[in-house]
Amino acid sequence: MMNMVKIGIIGTGGIARAHVSAYRKLPFVQIVAAADVIPGRAREFAEREGLTDAAAYDSHTELLAADLDGVSICTPNVSHHRTAVDSLRAGKQVLLEKPMSVTLAEALDMVKAAKESDRMLSIGFQPRYDPNMKRLQEIVQSGRLGQVYYVETGGGRRRGMPGGTFISKTLAGAGAMADIGCYSLDMALNTLGYPRPLTVSAFTANHFGTNPLYHPEANKFEVEDFGVAMVRFENDLTLQFKISWAMHMDTLGATMFLGTDAGLKVTPAGSGPWSGVWDGAIGSMTMFHDDFGGHTSTEVPLIGHQLNLFDEKVRDFAEAVRDGRPAPIPGEQILIQQAIIDGVLRSADLRREVSVQLPV
Ligand SMILES: NC(=O)c1ccc[n+]([C@@H]2O[C@H](COP(=O)([O-])OP(=O)(O)OC[C@H]3O[C@@H](n4cnc5c(N)ncnc54)[C@H](O)[C@@H]3O)[C@@H](O)[C@H]2O)c1
Repeated sequence: MMNMVKIGIIGTGGIARAHVSAYRKLPFVQIVAAADVIPGRAREFAEREGLTDAAAYDSHTELLAADLDGVSICTPNVSHHRTAVDSLRAGKQVLLEKPMSVTLAEALDMVKAAKESDRMLSIGFQPRYDPNMKRLQEIVQSGRLGQVYYVETGGGRRRGMPGGTFISKTLAGAGAMADIGCYSLDMALNTLGYPRPLTVSAFTANHFGTNPLYHPEANKFEVEDFGVAMVRFENDLTLQFKISWAMHMDTLGATMFLGTDAGLKVTPAGSGPWSGVWDGAIGSMTMFHDDFGGHTSTEVPLIGHQLNLFDEKVRDFAEAVRDGRPAPIPGEQILIQQAIIDGVLRSADLRREVSVQLPV
């Protein structure tokens, strides 16, 4: 008889439904509990999702007292820290939705809690499960491009600003930088093997979010809807990172890796107003190189697949819990991009370059 993995869901809003749907495809997982701070919401969620055997709680602390192996944390960003730390200290394995945290200090504390409790803290970046994302990483890390010295990434929605908790500085931390920027940072940094950042020089703006012509909650909009940053890394590597929730432009351009022997241009799959950021699969990869006596380019063939990337991230976490494997996307690694986002916000505030503050 297979060892059943018992899971609890903390925060039963929009994205929790995708977690439930993914867990239900796994015969070795049982969703045994759900919790939400809005009284009665977890109960309604459990009924609506047909989780007839799941207990429902009005706080995550009550849920953590139950017999569980792991939790999916699907709360707004501001609650990631408290719920993750409490879950780890209660001995649960944690799959946490992106972005990791609101502040760098919180991210550090979460990593510490994972170490001290010897539990995993895995952050939910589903694009990593695109087989073409793994191919991109293999190509770049194989040395085929030579020394990579410049990377440009990011993405933009012409119009795609969320509201509610996402536009509050205290509840979300940052705007477009954290909400969608974390994806492009992860795709670039994971491809490069998470190099160590040194400094950041950034600019942010919120001309759209604060304008009632463009946002129905303009008077509550406290975060940035656009950001650009130059990040300097060890070993003479630089990364330019651009992100927008709204702009008068169709795209902020492709992601590119410039190396001494070849360059790679990568574009995201998908179309429509909310696409164009690295929250899904790769749409194309082109290598630029000098061969056959001239400048040439090669279309890197994409691996065809029907994978649901979100289901894959949940499956990998559940299997890691079952098999006692380490975190698939460890908090310690994502801490590096939280330090970059922290640097972006400080630099934009101070209007000058700042050092990235990383623990030793
Ligand atoms: N990976 C992805 O593709 C993806 C997509 C959308 C959202 N997200 C992330 O998921 C998180 C949640 O987003 P959402 O759109 O589902 O938000 P949501 O507002 O729809 O749902 C969040 C729920 O959490 C509850 N909550 C708040 N604090 C809580 C606490 N301390 N304990 C228990 N419940 C609490 C709220 O009452 C609400 O029901 C965000 O961090 C967001 O960035 C990830």
